[in-house]
Amino acid sequence: MLCDGERLQKVLARAGIGSRRVAEELIDAGRVRVNGEVAVLGRRVDPDRDVVAVDGTPVGTAQGLAYRLLNKPRGVVATADDPQGRPTVVELVPAEPRVVPVGRLDADTEGLLLLTNDGQLHHRLTHPSFGVEKEYLAEVEGELTPRVLQRLRSGVELDDGVTAPAKASSPSPNVLKLTLHEGRNRQVRRMCEAIGHPVRRLVRTRIGPLADSSLPPGRWRDLTQAEVRALERAVVEADAAGAEGQRPDKVIGRRGR
Ligand code: URA
Repeated sequence: MLCDGERLQKVLARAGIGSRRVAEELIDAGRVRVNGEVAVLGRRVDPDRDVVAVDGTPVGTAQGLAYRLLNKPRGVVATADDPQGRPTVVELVPAEPRVVPVGRLDADTEGLLLLTNDGQLHHRLTHPSFGVEKEYLAEVEGELTPRVLQRLRSGVELDDGVTAPAKASSPSPNVLKLTLHEGRNRQVRRMCEAIGHPVRRLVRTRIGPLADSSLPPGRWRDLTQAEVRALERAVVEADAAGAEGQRPDKVIGRRGR
């Protein structure tokens, strides 16, 4: 019989669970499952395919890759380095392995930001042709009317072209929930300004399949393996929809309306 894969205790230790000895004790105590089944000592796993969980919580196992989900507080810049010396998001996560933020979030915007050292996923998520949905909650000036929400849904004229169709709703009179595929600079703020409801406070609440309302501002956590896979699936699906012309912003030209 072939003994493919890596020893489970080695994979667990690398994922930060503790030393190999600690990992062995966890396996021995029946607290480790691989693909839902209680693992035994000697078990080998494929870190890229098998789902490893300790006490029911999946652990990140792929070699050296880190995916941190941060709840960015207001006033922190979403870059690795700021010439103006403001606090940066990389100071809020462990220095090693070095991760960089995926995409933009204004210094005055709060909410979810992904940081990773997975160059391939980073590229796919930030490439303009990949439109993974992003959801925002904006507190705006004035009361939002159904007419204004309809304008946001069908596209708003900005100085860099008409915005693609979006999902817009208003959970309370001056709160806007907006879901976009595009990632233009200060897009939500500019859209709200254009419809006469400037933003007072902006929070990103979802990046594709990633959401976490229990993560306090300034805190981060690693993505679970299931979340990394869901994100990869979302990128593939968004690209397929774009390539097939299913995504509304591929059908309706940005500047052609
Ligand atoms: N839209 C904005 O206006 N700002 C952000 O930070 C993100 C989206």
